[in-house]
Amino acid sequence: MNSPTLFRDAAAPRPPDRVALRGDLLYLRADPGADPDAADSAHFEPDGWLLMEHGRVAGLLAADREPGADWPREDWRGHLLLPGFIDTHVHAPQLDVMGSFGTGLLEWLERYTFPAEQRWADTRHARVGARRFVRALLAHGTTSALVFPTVHRGSVDALFEAAQEQGMCLLAGKVLMDRNAPQELCDDIEQSERDCVELIEAWHGRARLRYAVTPRFAPTSSDAQLAMCARLLRNFEGLYLQTHVAESQAELRWIRELYPASRSYLDVYARFGLLGRRSVLAHGIWLDDTDRELLAAHRSTVAFSPSSNLFLGSGLFDWARADAAGMRVTVASDVGGGTSLCQLRSLADAYKVLALQGQRLSAWRALHAVTRGAAAALDLEDELGHFGPGAWGDVVVWNWAVGEVQAHRVGLARTLHERLFAWMTLADERNVAAVYVGGRRVRG
Ligand code: GUN
Ligand code: ZN
Repeated sequence: MNSPTLFRDAAAPRPPDRVALRGDLLYLRADPGADPDAADSAHFEPDGWLLMEHGRVAGLLAADREPGADWPREDWRGHLLLPGFIDTHVHAPQLDVMGSFGTGLLEWLERYTFPAEQRWADTRHARVGARRFVRALLAHGTTSALVFPTVHRGSVDALFEAAQEQGMCLLAGKVLMDRNAPQELCDDIEQSERDCVELIEAWHGRARLRYAVTPRFAPTSSDAQLAMCARLLRNFEGLYLQTHVAESQAELRWIRELYPASRSYLDVYARFGLLGRRSVLAHGIWLDDTDRELLAAHRSTVAFSPSSNLFLGSGLFDWARADAAGMRVTVASDVGGGTSLCQLRSLADAYKVLALQGQRLSAWRALHAVTRGAAAALDLEDELGHFGPGAWGDVVVWNWAVGEVQAHRVGLARTLHERLFAWMTLADERNVAAVYVGGRRVRG
């Protein structure tokens, strides 16, 4: 049962003492909200210098200044340098089921997803899958993520090991299910609580890793299991909670049968004390205003997952109503319901979901939602999602254009917003030129 963890004590990779990157630097200083003209919430330093020392940002220099001779330099002139994207909702084993045909959420889980997740019972399979997943995140410009592995304890070790090898900030926890799922994916409360405690003690706070209590969703947890989740959150400092809520209408009908005494789907989690400022709930399409106010009051986050919501036909997330309630919102891939790990694709889909409702997503807000806003939602804003001094040196170097069509369109832009928005809409992981994690170049 206790899978050996080969890399638990492996030293995190060492960053270079110093490095200065030159290019078009951009990060969000503050939440731009829904205002499309909120350009002053962004810091843009064209052809500037990003100084990183011992893995963290030491400062920025404008184009007319230069780092001293004791700074090794890497020249990315003509490229866009952004903080690495943060994916606040993604499933590691579901690379196997992306693009599976023909079903809505519940049938998709049964037909494709549960069988794929069962294969992670084999620790070797989980290790290979976890490494593939972490490599893929980086290749798509994502340097941090809040991740669902599987119910298997070895899947959590495998994922944390793979992230630690890269020096990444990654949050994850054993998926919990004890009913309405294949027997092989269900566990009993005593054993799963022991597993969670051991995993928390082994990984939570080690290097850049954090533990998230992970009940999959209310239909697959008994009352006793949800109570166990609350116990873990009370007993350990700084844990996260991740789950799904109000994703599809069929799911909502099922919740009404399973929890007739609950006012709403969200209310199930609220009654068990699972809402807090480090709780991230995916989807939240079919919430009502009382739910939204409850989430805002607890400072919990909804991870809007537009690619998945479109692909599974779940519905259209209403960001304006979330704003009106003061709710925190991030944008996530939700692979494998989502069809790309590239957060630029998530943002392009988010724009379209909102456009269908007469709402508009600016490039400022979009980029904030996958960088600084996501870091704030994870209570990690001091160290993630921006280029302020002391932040980790997680940087993605993007090509402004790949191919003639992107080059032509981006070249026609007259304002920075127009340029960023066209780029965000047309670019994808093929635009990634290089990736730095904790100041160390890991790709490109
Ligand atoms: N609800 C419960 N499990 C899942 C999952 O794996 N993906 C999505 N999109 N929704 C879920
Ligand atoms: Zn999900």
